[in-house]
Amino acid sequence: MEGRVALSDLEDAVERSVVADEHDKDIERVLISEREIQDKLKELGEQITRDYAGPPPLLIGVLKGAFVMMADLSRHIRLPLEVDFMAVASYGAATKTSGVVRILKDLDHDLEGRDVLLIEDIVDSGLTLNYLLKNLRGRRPASLEVCALLKKTGIQRVHLDVKYVGFEIPPEFVVGYGLDFSENFRNLPYVGLLRPEAYRDL
Ligand code: IMP
Ligand code: MG
Repeated sequence: MEGRVALSDLEDAVERSVVADEHDKDIERVLISEREIQDKLKELGEQITRDYAGPPPLLIGVLKGAFVMMADLSRHIRLPLEVDFMAVASYGAATKTSGVVRILKDLDHDLEGRDVLLIEDIVDSGLTLNYLLKNLRGRRPASLEVCALLKKTGIQRVHLDVKYVGFEIPPEFVVGYGLDFSENFRNLPYVGLLRPEAYRDL
């Protein structure tokens, strides 16, 4: 058992330090490895399975960032469920959230009376999520909770109850596992920090 733990720790260490092919040459450091993400999603999936044993929940993924997490997390939930997606864009400058969100693609489902679980990639200022929750609450779901893979520590500008959080991370810009910089890096299987040069080049 000990040997196995040691081996997987070693694999994580290797993954963190060796990030060098064409695909991810712009990544300075792996912050959360593929295996850490998958282990966490399994854990969250088990928790959600226990919490939603009643009527089939509706999972809502916030596009585009949540598309990877939605696929992985939903397969760890051992219950009948339905999925839907919303695409949103924040008004204002590219690097700062204004808190006013434009809905680019709305839901196909009616939320009234449903147990809704909103799947988000990351909670940064929290303004996007705050706006979304208000909007969705107005559609009278039976319940509404949030599952976010990442939450930046200490920088939320509004109070939010995020019931399921994968990882608390420092308030730095991260990419991978659905998260982009200028639409790139969404397909990396881990969450990483960009090299400063990458900001300048793109
Ligand atoms: P918020 O409204 O400030 O919480 O930002 C929410 C959205 O901004 C997220 O859903 C992401 O699309 C994007 N975002 C925030 N922080 C990051 C980051 O570190 N990397 C990539 N996208 C981010
Ligand atoms: Mg983005």
